[in-house]
Amino acid sequence: MHKKLAPKLDTQFKQEVYQGLTSYPKFLSSKYIYDKAGDALFQDIMNMPEYYLTNTEFSILETYKEQLAQYFFNNEKPFHLIEMGAGDGKKTKILLHHFTDKKLDFTFRPIDISQNALDSLQANLKDEIPELATEPMQGTYFETLKKLNFATDERKVILFLGSNIGNLLHDQAIEFLSKIQEYMQPNDLLFIGFDQKKHPQILLDAYNDTTGITARFNKNLLVRINRELEANFDMDSFMHWEVYDPESGTAKSYLVAQSPQQVHIEKLSLDVTFDAWETIHTEISQKYDDKTVHWLAEKSGLKVLETFSDAKNYYKNYLFTKSV
Ligand code: TRP
Repeated sequence: MHKKLAPKLDTQFKQEVYQGLTSYPKFLSSKYIYDKAGDALFQDIMNMPEYYLTNTEFSILETYKEQLAQYFFNNEKPFHLIEMGAGDGKKTKILLHHFTDKKLDFTFRPIDISQNALDSLQANLKDEIPELATEPMQGTYFETLKKLNFATDERKVILFLGSNIGNLLHDQAIEFLSKIQEYMQPNDLLFIGFDQKKHPQILLDAYNDTTGITARFNKNLLVRINRELEANFDMDSFMHWEVYDPESGTAKSYLVAQSPQQVHIEKLSLDVTFDAWETIHTEISQKYDDKTVHWLAEKSGLKVLETFSDAKNYYKNYLFTKSV
């Protein structure tokens, strides 16, 4: 008799994959889609005609950049423009260009967990907007917001764009917003993008394009497990599937096994069995309406100051302050 060695779950990736694939129903976190290939595929998604989110938020920022300048600088005092999860800063640059053209006194503070992402953003901004003061902050959102809260009396304007909040179910969103609110002063502002409820077909098309980019993006999670954890997922046996519930406003992405199969994951010393049509849940993309956003704000100690939307009301950005 030989005993199988217990796997060494020495990274968070290994722990989460192990947990998700040994649960029923199975799940995996969409954050692991975003390696180099995943980032590139997400760029392709943002360029698809069906994926209206990016362009719509872009147009809202373009339309309201002056009004936002007036909100952010209404006391004529220097402020900190903080961005949670800045990425390549493509959308934020609309504001950065406008604010520097107007010679507003502010510092741009992108927060990211990845020093690498921050370094390339900073290099790019130095090039494109040399007069901009950029102070990247590496760490988790809450660590860095807390530090900054104690370090300054100047106004903080916190940006959270791209409807990233939609990756959280309402309870988690309330927890998230409440925590941010704790690190805000009465004069601080919070500006968040919320994708809106709309014709369900438009949503399904955005998350299940006919060219298969979204399918490849979702499946990149399995590609990554194959490579990094020495697994043998057969890509052709899994399909991307999207559902949208117009009542709750929740869009969900799945990977569905099209036949019974077994997958070996060497680095987890794990064999995973799939029945035919068994699912792996990978992502939620919550859609909102005004009522829901006001309810989330109220539950989190925030209040809505103003709402900015595009002509079709596909997407809205809300400006919040502390309600107390
Ligand atoms: N979560 C993002 C969004 O809601 C990114 C995304 C787009 C996504 N399509 C996806 C994540 C498909 C997983 C599967 O827009």
